[in-house]
Amino acid sequence: MVQEMHLPGSIYHGAGSIENLADAAAEIGANNLFVVISTSVLREPLNLETGLKKILKKTNLQLTLFSELKGEPTTENVIAATNNCKECNADCIVAVGGGSAIDLAKAVSVMTVNPDIKYHEIPRMKRIKRLPLIAVPTTAGTGSEATKVMVITDIDTGIKLNPGHPGLIPDITILDPELTLTLPKSFTVFTGMDALAHAVEAFVSTKATIMSDNFALKAIRLINKALPDAYKDGSDIEARETMLLGSCFAGIAFSNSSTNLAHAAGRALGARFHIPHGLSVALLLPFVVEFGLEFAQERYATIGKILNPGADGSEKTMAKETLKMIMSLNDQFHIWEEGAKYLNGSDESIIPLLVDDALAGNGILTNQVIPVHEDIKQIYQKLLKKISEYSVL
Ligand SMILES: NC(=O)c1ccc[n+]([C@@H]2O[C@H](COP(=O)([O-])OP(=O)(O)OC[C@H]3O[C@@H](n4cnc5c(N)ncnc54)[C@H](O)[C@@H]3O)[C@@H](O)[C@H]2O)c1
Ligand SMILES: [Zn+2]
Repeated sequence: MVQEMHLPGSIYHGAGSIENLADAAAEIGANNLFVVISTSVLREPLNLETGLKKILKKTNLQLTLFSELKGEPTTENVIAATNNCKECNADCIVAVGGGSAIDLAKAVSVMTVNPDIKYHEIPRMKRIKRLPLIAVPTTAGTGSEATKVMVITDIDTGIKLNPGHPGLIPDITILDPELTLTLPKSFTVFTGMDALAHAVEAFVSTKATIMSDNFALKAIRLINKALPDAYKDGSDIEARETMLLGSCFAGIAFSNSSTNLAHAAGRALGARFHIPHGLSVALLLPFVVEFGLEFAQERYATIGKILNPGADGSEKTMAKETLKMIMSLNDQFHIWEEGAKYLNGSDESIIPLLVDDALAGNGILTNQVIPVHEDIKQIYQKLLKKISEYSVL
């Protein structure tokens, strides 16, 4: 069977690699950059407005910053940013920030060139015409810098749209761990657990290939090693670098395989309760793993062995190790208490709506066992029960 693999054109990585932005722009032949940037990285100590201007000082490149994004991007943000981009006649989009800024930049790169296109038409397009795109992640989580997906919340329906097309993969990616040193503990673990979920879901997906497996397993190894260190000490540059590589590999893995139920259910939960993406996925991942354990036992046993190299036992025991280890990471990173901030007091009356939203999104059909309404209902019930045991931090 013919299988496909889609990757960014070039990847620069390592501490200080942001200095390569001028080379990257030259590689593309850009003259006028529209930079979609997360507000947090404009603040001290990163102060990236000054930083970017310094890096581009010796070039003739024009630079316009767009930093009006608050939270995760919506269709309204895309319209505003696209109008700004058109006004300045940019010939290249640069994203500097978390997955939110990168996804907004992806949308702007497409909408600037195709003003009438609808989000649901994107996956079916033969070829996407868009402005060139350079992605510089400042979180280690979404992998958007290497994926064919963009996630934009529809302001009218409250649903997260996530069209995918290989043409959305950035042309150039720069992975500089120094830009992630300022990420607070909470977002370090939300985004890190998101990356772990990408790798785990890509590996157990029915769309997994030998190439996506390779990236998924390496990502799980890297993230399992580095996330506890990055959580303990945010200034640990080695852990930050390992996380950035791990999240990029996990992005490549799921972009060439798929995410599954943890993401379908997580997107629904996140959109309705305004929960950061990584946290919503982390909250659901253990219950989704538990649901699929016996159907993908061999694959989960492989993951269990990586997450806990010291453990030994039958395939069934090692598969359960995956569940145990993910639960334990959630405990260690206070994921339940963080979830309680958003979900405490919610009763089960919301569940039917969440299940409908989850079933309407991507990630259901690629699960090793296709969940029905009742299965997803039980997963949300387990989450609410778990959350009720925790008080808000
Ligand atoms: N395109 C994809 O493949 C893909 C995959 C998964 C998730 N997503 C989407 O990405 C979005 C989430 O992205 P995210 O998890 O990276 O979070 P984010 O981009 O929303 O950033 C989270 C917060 O951290 C701040 N921040 C970012 N970098 C920082 C830094 N270095 N120091 C201090 N603060 C910093 C941001 O300003 C923001 O307040 C969601 O919309 C999600 O649905 C996309
Ligand atoms: Zn995710």
